[in-house]
Amino acid sequence: MLDSAYYQKTDEILEKYPREERSLIPIIHDVQDEYHYLPPELLSYIAREIGITETKAYSVASFYENFSFEPKGRFVLKVCDGTACHVRQSGPVLQRLREELGLADDQRTTGDMLFTVETVSCLGACGLAPAMTVNDAVHPAMTPEKASELIKELKAQAKDGGGQPAKETEEKPKEGKK
Ligand code: FES
Repeated sequence: MLDSAYYQKTDEILEKYPREERSLIPIIHDVQDEYHYLPPELLSYIAREIGITETKAYSVASFYENFSFEPKGRFVLKVCDGTACHVRQSGPVLQRLREELGLADDQRTTGDMLFTVETVSCLGACGLAPAMTVNDAVHPAMTPEKASELIKELKAQAKDGGGQPAKETEEKPKEGKK
């Protein structure tokens, strides 16, 4: 059960938009910006407030890969595993990141909510392969050694209170949904 502060914040966001179906995406975008994920309870709440069914709201939100129903870490690491990156050894980079962060097989987010590690099919930076991003910043020509160094830097940043919270910036349809 979400704290009432979540609903208050969502009400503030709702105030910025007309209560109609086409406001759904900008509203859930703002909510995800605020909490770094889209709490399912808030999606249901928003659906009611703008007068659409929960089913409709879920089907729209799940169409776009950047909306997440699970909480994410402060640093979201996306490792590209598209063809250009794969042939240039993105696999060992991903493996090193997971090892450095002690992530178990199915685990994507560290217990301290600092890091989330994901794979994507193309970051649109194939000339920089193997590429990855940390939140919105692209890191080109990655190697396992650079991955270890990066984790060290991000941990130091987190200790100093620095680092941008995880933020999703654009909505892309999920793979296979066109
Ligand atoms: S395949 Fe990795 S950026 Fe395109």
